[in-house]
Amino acid sequence: MAADVAEVVRRAIPVSAPVAGLILGSGLGGLAARIEGAQSIDYAALPGFATPTVPGHEGRLITGTLAGRPVVALAGRFHVYEGHSAAMAAFPVRVLHALGARILLVSNAAGGIRRSLRPGDLMIVKDHVNFTWMNPLTGPVVAGDERFPDMSDPYDPALRRLLAETADAAGVPVSEGVYFGLTGPTYETPAEVRMLERLGADAVGMSTVHEVIVARAIGMRVAAVSCITNQAAGLGDGAISHAEVIEVTRKAANAFEQLAAGFIHRV
Ligand code: HPA
Repeated sequence: MAADVAEVVRRAIPVSAPVAGLILGSGLGGLAARIEGAQSIDYAALPGFATPTVPGHEGRLITGTLAGRPVVALAGRFHVYEGHSAAMAAFPVRVLHALGARILLVSNAAGGIRRSLRPGDLMIVKDHVNFTWMNPLTGPVVAGDERFPDMSDPYDPALRRLLAETADAAGVPVSEGVYFGLTGPTYETPAEVRMLERLGADAVGMSTVHEVIVARAIGMRVAAVSCITNQAAGLGDGAISHAEVIEVTRKAANAFEQLAAGFIHRV
């Protein structure tokens, strides 16, 4: 199925051996504008794809070069809170793999739980907890997948180092942390945030974990960056809104784009 979608993409736009696949999270789609020679295809033209329903998610697969190196990028993702299965949320990762990507760079917007995290900060994901209680690999084994994939190094240590070095070289402040993926669509309650903090969460969001599980199951190396858009519920002042999330990602976009482009240049 992913191979069929990849074939549709190849017939529509040029794809040259990508060094990485990119997933551009909420409000982080601006990286697409840095892709040179960009050619894109709407999700609507891809069999099995849905149309993203969330503002900040475009719904285009883009090929071209970033920092001089070929990439394939997904501007817009599918979330389980939109009614998609975990397998569907992760399906586009299979398409990136079928197009030749063996490294996956994921980005997302997240709420900061670690007290030192502030809106606009970037966090390199060092590990995650899949707190959605859904797994994209339940059901019959997809051909080529492992039944029981290892998850002891979900976020590749060498790629994490490369992200940290790139951030350092670019003067972009970053820290590392553990991302908890929940289904949403509600933001958390303060009590839930206190629980997540005790369980070891640095940040919380509504994506990423299913994509990373599938990427690891098909042997991709993964790196991920969270853009902290707000202090999680009860830690900051006032209510959390998607408008605020998008606004903060826009402000952090330049630092994120520098980090992502520098990473792709070096990987
Ligand atoms: N919680 C969950 N997901 C999020 C948040 C949050 O506080 N901010 C951005 N995405």
